Amino acid sequence: MIKVITYGTYDMLHYGHIRLLERAKALGDYLIVGITSDDYDKTRGKINNQQSLMERIRAVRDTGLADEIIVEEYEGQKIDDIKRLGADIFTVGSDWEGKFDYLNEYCKVVYLPRTEGISSSELRTEQRKIKVGIVGKSVYQTKFVAESSFVNGVDISCVCTSERDNSFDESKVLQTTDYDELLSSVDAVFVISTPDMHYIHAKKALLAGKHVLCASPIATSEDECRELFELAKKNNLILMDAIKTAYSTAYGRLILLAKSGKIGQVVSVDSVCTSLRDGSSMSDTDSSQKWNSICDWAPTALLPVFDILGTNYIKKTISTLFSDEEANLDAFSKIDFIFPNSVASIKVAKAAKAEGELIVTGTKGYIYVPAPWWKTDYFEIRYENPEDNRRFFYQLEGEGIRYEIVAFAKAIESKNNISCISENTSLAIASIIGDFNERKDFFKIG
Ligand code: CTP
Repeated sequence: MIKVITYGTYDMLHYGHIRLLERAKALGDYLIVGITSDDYDKTRGKINNQQSLMERIRAVRDTGLADEIIVEEYEGQKIDDIKRLGADIFTVGSDWEGKFDYLNEYCKVVYLPRTEGISSSELRTEQRKIKVGIVGKSVYQTKFVAESSFVNGVDISCVCTSERDNSFDESKVLQTTDYDELLSSVDAVFVISTPDMHYIHAKKALLAGKHVLCASPIATSEDECRELFELAKKNNLILMDAIKTAYSTAYGRLILLAKSGKIGQVVSVDSVCTSLRDGSSMSDTDSSQKWNSICDWAPTALLPVFDILGTNYIKKTISTLFSDEEANLDAFSKIDFIFPNSVASIKVAKAAKAEGELIVTGTKGYIYVPAPWWKTDYFEIRYENPEDNRRFFYQLEGEGIRYEIVAFAKAIESKNNISCISENTSLAIASIIGDFNERKDFFKIG
């Protein structure tokens, strides 16, 4: 019996796939089809498959062409599979010509001509695109436009800013200073204006029937934040908090490990986020610098605290060193929390420097995420006995921004808020920013 093996993603199964499978089957007597797992595709940069692994498996199974289906989960697995399953022939489409010659050592390699004129990528692109507008001028805006090009189904069509950006292609991206003009031409808005404007911009967009992805904090008080979520629900719209770290695979996994008891009971979460960029003193006139340390960094720093310990803390203290108190610019802020069974602390600064690490302390061990933890692709679980330590690595592309855009687009399409940041967390973040502004639970240092 001649066994043939082939691999692919098979997203939105099309006749190019079916023709490939038919010809692969005809090469032998028994066809094994390897289908990529969602995680493996992520590490290969394929981030927005329309279908889940189970849906893709079902579609291949329903062709009736595969005698056996396996899941491809890691780099190098093909060699293992060929040896384990005793495959005689490995085959893929000619778009991979030459790429798998190294498998000749284990079996015969056959490249089959690819069917012209069709691919999953093209099918995804043909789907209706969500027109997104961006309001506000910041370094994130340029990053967001660049990152959105990796996501099928999203088109940045308009930017509302007072500072013209010549790097945008004028024929594709309309630039305007009029927010109403932006709202009239898009389906969704990414709000990245200064924090005091988030509530106003988000509310206006929601009232105009547009979905909103809003840089955190969504509002500078809990009440305003709650009002926006209620408005979104009432109008069947998506309102999502944009903290890119929340969308990285490594961050998601470390939260699950912390919650599943891997380090025992969590007794403390301590996170530090600082940035001391050359030439960017807190008093710069550049609008991006109008983000004080607390607004710029606290949403990210607070994320693991609230994700692991919840938002029902008993007490907190905010200690701040101002660089310009009148302008509400804090050089450094520290917040200490007391929860019923644990404690937490965050340190944020734009005019002070510390090691940007995250440590989750447990009764059996701790999770250590090295600096800069908010761009995390790696973390460790450490125990008393170093032999028990475990290291975890998950590829991170584009600082997590492209995963955030994928989640936003999927939420809009499915009409289901699949945000990685819970509403409670967004509310708790807004409440802390509000308390800072009102100097509640507050100590001034220096
Ligand atoms: N294939 C083919 N003809 C096509 C598309 C795919 O023969 N028009 C083959 C590929 O060469 C591969 C298998 O089908 O052997 C699975 O391909 P996959 O990468 O899942 O499909 P694509 O349509 O190429 O997906 P994408 O556009 O996301 O790369």
